[in-house]
Amino acid sequence: MAVSIQQQINWATGMLQAISSSPRLDSEILLAHCLDKNRSFLMTWPEYILQARQVECFADLVQRRLQLQPIAYLVGSREFYSIELKTTADTLVPRPETEMLVDKVLEIVGSLEQPRILELGTGTGAIALAIKRHKEDSQIVATDISLSALAIARDNAHTYNLEVDFIQSDWFQSLDTLKTFDVVVSNPPYIAADDPYLKQGDLPAEPSQALCSGPSGLEALDPIIKGSQQYLRHSGWIVLEHGYQQGQSVRQLLDENGYAQVTLFQDFNSLDRMTVAQKPPA
Ligand SMILES: C[S@@+](CC[C@H](N)C(=O)[O-])C[C@H]1O[C@@H](n2cnc3c(N)ncnc32)[C@H](O)[C@@H]1O
Repeated sequence: MAVSIQQQINWATGMLQAISSSPRLDSEILLAHCLDKNRSFLMTWPEYILQARQVECFADLVQRRLQLQPIAYLVGSREFYSIELKTTADTLVPRPETEMLVDKVLEIVGSLEQPRILELGTGTGAIALAIKRHKEDSQIVATDISLSALAIARDNAHTYNLEVDFIQSDWFQSLDTLKTFDVVVSNPPYIAADDPYLKQGDLPAEPSQALCSGPSGLEALDPIIKGSQQYLRHSGWIVLEHGYQQGQSVRQLLDENGYAQVTLFQDFNSLDRMTVAQKPPA
């Protein structure tokens, strides 16, 4: 039976209503992927009759979406800071709110020549690659504990011909102790282990070590804040993403560890999301 783009989108939107807050958008992204077109093709040609293999591809993706696979894993990529990044089940799906960390780092290093930047927990490489793309002379080391995530990050760097030094490391463990950086930036796993949010939406499909590091949610932020003192040059900056209820705890950790100019920023949902602080001058 011949089916059109419009009919398939209506069918899938109805199906996906049960599990997604954006069923129509999900349907359009999945169908566009099966057609190897962008979404505007779907709007322009709603009467277009699909080939059998396109219908099959779409039915398969809709089924997998119904099993709560994130859209980014189904289509194999996610856009971050206008870069289409390869994204797999080995990596966190980059979030739009994380783009504010890139903005902040670019603001800090804008006037520096060949700034040295350390990213901890790089996942797809999103933060490091976005910074490198906009500040070409920056020298970036980006780490992750997950070798499979690092393989994706390296692939992404290769695709965009961006040079970043990717290193497998448990936070600072494998870093050269003599190196210092102008900025340490991190979006670490910060969700508390018993947070019911971990069971919602796409989160169950994402790697747990990308989301959660222990009972309080501060088990990664704490060593990162402490360890960065050794790796930051004097007057260097630490830029951290954290949970919307962690602003005060992060401030306290930064204060206790001798950082200055501790400043909390909210994301586009007006939620506390990022804290920036400076290692005092010598
Ligand atoms: C929240 S994800 C952030 C990924 C990416 N930077 C982003 O913003 O999309 C946290 C990352 O930290 C990594 N990670 C978890 N524990 C780590 C550790 N002990 N040392 C280094 N990286 C770790 C995870 O594998 C994951 O890629």
